[in-house]
Amino acid sequence: MTSDLRTFLSDLVATQPDALKRVDVPVDRSFGITAYGAKLDKDRKYPALLFDNVEGATIPCLTNLLATHDRMALALGLEVEDLTNASDRTQGMQPHPPVTVDAAQAPVKEVIWRDDEVDLGKLPIPVHNQLDGGPFLTAAVSLMKDPDSGAINAGIYRHHVYDSRRMGVWFFGSHDGGTIHRRYEERGEPTPIAIAIGHHPGFLMGAVSRVAGIGGEYDAAGAFLGESVEVVKAENSDIMVPARAEIVLEGVIIPGEMVEEGPFAEWPGHYVGGGPKPVIRIDCVTMRADAIFQDIQASGREHRLMGALPRISSIHTRVKQVVPGLQAVNVPVHTRMHCYLSIKKALDSDPTRAAFAAFNTEPENLRMVIVVDDDIDVFDEEEVSWAIGTRFDATKDLQIIPEWNGPGGLLPTNWEYDEQGTRTKKMSSGVIIDATKPAPPVVFPVRAQVPREVVRAVNLDTMLDVATPEQLPWMEAR
Ligand SMILES: Cc1cc2nc3c(=O)[nH]c(=O)nc-3n(C[C@H](O)[C@H](O)[C@H](O)COP(=O)(O)O)c2cc1C
Repeated sequence: MTSDLRTFLSDLVATQPDALKRVDVPVDRSFGITAYGAKLDKDRKYPALLFDNVEGATIPCLTNLLATHDRMALALGLEVEDLTNASDRTQGMQPHPPVTVDAAQAPVKEVIWRDDEVDLGKLPIPVHNQLDGGPFLTAAVSLMKDPDSGAINAGIYRHHVYDSRRMGVWFFGSHDGGTIHRRYEERGEPTPIAIAIGHHPGFLMGAVSRVAGIGGEYDAAGAFLGESVEVVKAENSDIMVPARAEIVLEGVIIPGEMVEEGPFAEWPGHYVGGGPKPVIRIDCVTMRADAIFQDIQASGREHRLMGALPRISSIHTRVKQVVPGLQAVNVPVHTRMHCYLSIKKALDSDPTRAAFAAFNTEPENLRMVIVVDDDIDVFDEEEVSWAIGTRFDATKDLQIIPEWNGPGGLLPTNWEYDEQGTRTKKMSSGVIIDATKPAPPVVFPVRAQVPREVVRAVNLDTMLDVATPEQLPWMEAR
């Protein structure tokens, strides 16, 4: 069966029954949904949460689905340790361009609201954090058609919902969605946009991947899914939308109109950003008869993981082109501004080249790249820290790239603050920490360790519990 949100939820319940929890008591859309996630976060628990009874809404709200590596691995049909290489599947080995289906075969066309029937208030759109300016769509994949090339581009952009038909959109300056919008603006034309909510995690991974150039995300999603995404023509434009999405909102970005957007707690966990942003008017909503609304827990683990994981794959692809000895990449989920690369070092220039390739793949978000040797597990914070302690010498292995990041954006360090509470955009620096040993033929001290194959062969079932003193004859009774 073609993959969508429902096929994934069925796989999840079949393989990890504890991974999805239902809440059927009434919850308020203001903080009621996110409070569950926040409470569970404290206990380091991250089940997906399905709220059946969100006050004022007839549609259930699913959140936190994408918060764990093992669920993402299940979604992509990979082992967790192979997630770092997931983008290799997007490199043309098995291209899966989208396939068009008729509206009659598209579940997302089962219900259609047009013009005045549109009421975004009927959707369970949460208010996530205490100082947020209102409800925000966070798991919505926007599809736009480049007026120059005709390519369909996809990305997740936050949408502050203002009323029953109007919402904001926040494009990061360098993102393709923003470029497409600027092109329509320059022509003085409205920008057609379609926003898909609720789909298989592989579809969302494709949408957030760093695909070179405008468009290509449907193909990337197809590669992650191992099959083509089924698409259908939107009602009000020639944008092709995912036929198996739960909900699609169709509208236009109104030329020249800007509204104060935010505040909104973003993934770095601070209130940064906001200001005047373009406005979308929704003219049509299509959805399944029993649609599920999907949310991402803003500024929580799910937000950071979904920001990190697709980029790990993209960084892997780009760095490997420059440094073939690349072994693994981690963008740790607790701090998406850092990136750890392990390499089998061949040249002393490898760490710097690898770090620059990573920075250039993820220029808005990375602030520090740490490069380690191939014996270090980049998914183990203690190992990375140990490598810095034993193989890094700051006077020669630390590089600071001044004026790398910004100006402004979501990182608090990209702004100057004063006592009056005003702030001004500024640039901030990037850091490279080279914690690798010198390249061969230099001889560096050998790492102390028990031979790996012997460790691997140990059978821990050979360990016995010491239940009673009699099991140890030499033990004296006390
Ligand atoms: C949960 C989540 C929220 C995001 N919010 C935004 C956003 O508000 N604005 C933005 O420009 N990018 C946002 N992104 C990142 C973009 O979706 C991502 O970089 C995408 O590749 C951009 O595509 P584009 O360059 O084709 O526009 C978000 C990503 C995630 C995972």
